[in-house]
Amino acid sequence: MNLAVFASGGGSNFQAILRRIRSGDLTNACVVLVVSNNSRCGALELARQNSIAAVHLSSQTHPDHVAFENTLLDLLCTHQVEIILLAGYMKLLPKVVIRRFPKRILNIHPALLPQYGGQGMYGIKVHEAVVRSGDRESGATVHWVNENYDDGPIAAQSRVPVLAGDTAGTLAARVLQAEHDLYWRVVDALANDREINASEPWTKS
Ligand code: GRF
Repeated sequence: MNLAVFASGGGSNFQAILRRIRSGDLTNACVVLVVSNNSRCGALELARQNSIAAVHLSSQTHPDHVAFENTLLDLLCTHQVEIILLAGYMKLLPKVVIRRFPKRILNIHPALLPQYGGQGMYGIKVHEAVVRSGDRESGATVHWVNENYDDGPIAAQSRVPVLAGDTAGTLAARVLQAEHDLYWRVVDALANDREINASEPWTKS
């Protein structure tokens, strides 16, 4: 199953997936393309180091949105991409791409959606809101992507405790580990035609 990863940042989720492919835990999957709106992001560098096609695509490279969409669709077709994984990708995918990949686009979000999601709720802001709320639990959510931010049906969640004395930073680190342990499992189920049941225990909490 050919995967494309879309990222804007360091790419630790992408790296975690590569590791699981290399270890044989994640089977029948191969990352064939990495796309980023940030030409200097770690995910593109990681792709290059692993001889994976690494493409910077943004309003800078393609000011005209129709040209952007056509270039992106051509890329996905050329690399015969079957599943798209958003991993810290800070842009909304074009509607035409979402429609071309029904139930084949996943995103990972560093909170227990539907709480703490939506436009503007990303990165450390998520964890600051959780710590401020007094919630005793947070976690990671993998969901199907639709035309809104963090809004599609939930595929899987992994819960972590919010500990007394947690800062947004300490919580972020705990949630990121949960993300790394969760995402590949959902991709493995999809790549191997196993049912994806959000209510099942995906990882040991
Ligand atoms: C992760 O926290 C992910 O949940 C969020 O953006 C971050 C990406 O981190 N969408 P990385 O680039 O995979 O390290």
